[in-house]
Order: sequence, then C-alpha cells, then structure tokens
Amino acid sequence: MDNFIFQNSTKIIFGRDTENKVGKETTKYSRNILLHYGGGSIKKSGLYQRVISSLKESRVKFTELSGVKPNPVLTKVREGINICRKNKIDFILAVGGGSVIDSAKAIAVGIDYEGDVWDFYDSEKEIKDAVPIGVVLTIPAAGSEASTGSVITNEDGLYKRYCNSLKLRPKFSILNPILSFTLPAFQTACGAADIIAHITERYFTNTLKVDLTDRLCEATLKTVINNIPIALRKPEDYDSRAEIMWSGTIAHNDLLGTGRVSDWGSHDIEHELSAIYDLAHGEGLAIIVPAWMKYVFKTNLARFVQFAVRVFNVDQNFESVEKTAMEGINRLEEFFKESGLPTRLKDVGISDDRFDEMASKCTEKKEIGNFKKLNKEDVLKILNLAL
Ligand code: NZQ
Ligand code: ZN
Repeated sequence: MDNFIFQNSTKIIFGRDTENKVGKETTKYSRNILLHYGGGSIKKSGLYQRVISSLKESRVKFTELSGVKPNPVLTKVREGINICRKNKIDFILAVGGGSVIDSAKAIAVGIDYEGDVWDFYDSEKEIKDAVPIGVVLTIPAAGSEASTGSVITNEDGLYKRYCNSLKLRPKFSILNPILSFTLPAFQTACGAADIIAHITERYFTNTLKVDLTDRLCEATLKTVINNIPIALRKPEDYDSRAEIMWSGTIAHNDLLGTGRVSDWGSHDIEHELSAIYDLAHGEGLAIIVPAWMKYVFKTNLARFVQFAVRVFNVDQNFESVEKTAMEGINRLEEFFKESGLPTRLKDVGISDDRFDEMASKCTEKKEIGNFKKLNKEDVLKILNLAL
C-alpha cells in the first residue's frame, strides 16, 4: 500500500425530505447566493419550488442562473462569473447532476481570479481560492457532489478538460434518493456506467497489497450491479435508489483510491468523445471501458481474474486464466447492454472519421493512464476495438 492523505470534508445529508434543509445549511456560508441549475427537470419534478421555499424561509437572497447543459460549457461558466461579480455573490448552490455541479465549481473558482478561468482547465495551474458551493443532487453518476474535480468543455476547439483541487469539494451535499425517481431509464443507466467506471479506474492498478480498497471497490461494484436492474424495473423503489445514490458518492470521493495508483485512461478517452459528439458521459464510458479492458488486460492478468471471480462470480477455473479474465470483461459489457446502454461506437452512429483527432488531442501533452501507459497509437487501437 502506498502512502496517502485522505481528506474529504463534504458534509453528506442523506435521506427523505433532506432538500428542505438546504436554506438552513446555506446560511452557514452566505445569504447572497447563485442558484444554479440545468434544463428544467427540477421545475418539472417540483424540487425547484421546495428549494426556493427553504431558501426564502431562511432569508437567503438568491439570483438564478439556469440552462446548464449536459457536458457543461465554458460560456455558461463565464456568464455565471459575471453575474456573481456584479451581485457580490459569494456562494453557489448547484441543484442537479454532475454538469450543474461542475459548472458551479468553475464559477466558484473564477469569481476572484483575475485571469480567464479556463487557465485552470488548460494547464495544471494551482487553484488558490474558490467560493464555497453546496449541492442538492438529482442524479447519482458523476460523483461531483463530493469530488475535487470539475469538467468543462471549451466550445472553442471542443476541448473537454478537468481541474482538481481540495478547494472544489462542496461544503455540503444533500442526497435524497427520491429525487432520482424521475430519472429516465437511460440516465439511470448512464449514471451506473459512470459509477462503475470511477471504481474500475481505481481498481485496475499495479499497486500491490491493497486488499481493503480492493474489497471496498468490489462491494461498491456489486451493489450497483445488483441494484440497477431493480431501479430500472421499478423507478420508485427507494431502497435500490438509495444504494445506487450512496454508491455514486463513495465511488468518487477518493476513498476507493487510497493507497494505490489509479488509472483514468478510459476517462481521458471518453472526454474526447463527449466533447466532439456530445454523448452522455456514462454512455461514452459504456463503450470505452470494455474496449480499454480488452486492450490492457494482459498487462496484469491476475487483477482481471480477481475482478471476474470476485465481482462477476466467474469460476476461477473457467477454461484458462486468460479466458477467465475475458469472461469478467464480457459480463461487464453484457451488464451495460442489459441496462440499455450502447457498447460500440457504431451503436451511436460514430465512425472512425475523427479517431486521429481524438487520439492526438488526448495524448498531446503526455501519455495517459497508469495501469498501462497509453500513447496515441494505443488510443487509436482502443478506439478501433470500440468500433
Ligand atoms: O438539465 P436537466 O433538465 O436537469 O436534466 C438533466 C440532464 O439532461 C437530467 N436529470 C438530472 N437529474 C434528473 C434529470 N432528469 C430527470 N430527473 C432527475 N432527477 O439528466 C441529464 C444529465 O445530467 P448531468 O448533470 O449531465 O449528468 P451527470 O451527473 O452524469 O454529469 C455528467 C457530467 O459530469 C462530468 C461528465 O464529464 C459530464 O460532463 N463528470 C464530472 C466529474 C467530477 N466533477 O468529479 C467526474 C466524472 O467522471 C465526469 O467526468
Ligand atoms: Zn466519470
């Protein structure tokens, strides 16, 4: 096990009716906030009304900025920064999923920064300050509700890039599983693929003797795999929605990566896909993760055998070591298909036209991934396996 520092300060407020606490929780930081949300699902579900009632009750003044799109964009972030500066806002409340939260984080970083906020995404420039943010989560998926990351697309050049800082962890995140009842089946499945990918990015490591985190990863993977079919069949099943929502946070709050080197190659490749083709992030991962696995599994067969046996109950003596490992990958791919997700680029109408562009962009600064370092040629091969 490697040395590590684990520091996750996000206060998680979990369960039924918890969104009604948002006003009181917000007053701990500010009474002049930006209320940030997406394309309207929160109005349709009635959540918007409950959030503004709670804010009003606690005498929190709010300015609204809606219209965050999935794969959030830099122009909306800049608009938010201008609104906050003009109104002297010093807290952002994100009500939505990863896209809204990431947009809120970007605005939080940009308010007091003299340059252009893209500087933090384009290079590894250190984030010195950010105004605090709070979250009411509506979709278990990205894990941004307790993560240090924010992912934004610059429409100029279609670069989807991330930045990371402890300063970006939300102060609090309100997680009411009932808020995910209204998710379309497709979004539920996309969320599952993202949660699973956040775990596999950490699980597939060459670091030795990380038994506790291996088993925490396996438990979280199994929880998602067991509960997604139930939530898809019965969207209003509280228990399965609760298991999935908590798994989504655990999968990406850094706990499962402690003491080990994580990979992130599949995410880097997927971000090129969703930047250019505007796919849902989870949809892109359902295509890329199995392709990545097929490309790298011989790098550490024992780890892939462990995944197959412990997560998908494949028989340890399934024909051969290689076939056991491959069977785990096949079963993951099957799980994605059964959840209604595409597993090939052709399923979403993408051909090899822009493979060269995507492979160049994601390796232009350095090789990606850690389990196996990937250069442009490797990425091209993975994209071809995904075709
Ligand atoms: O915009 P609205 O109308 O709210 O609709 C959203 C959106 O269309 C809808 N939705 C959300 N909650 C709903 C709902 N519809 C009905 N009922 C509800 N309860 O779902 C759609 C997708 O929302 P989005 O926020 O885009 O989903 P997700 O949470 O998957 O976020 C994806 C973004 O997060 C980034 C991804 O790259 C992508 O841009 N990621 C962020 C990470 C982080 N900050 O740590 C890590 C991840 O790896 C990921 O890269
Ligand atoms: Zn992700």
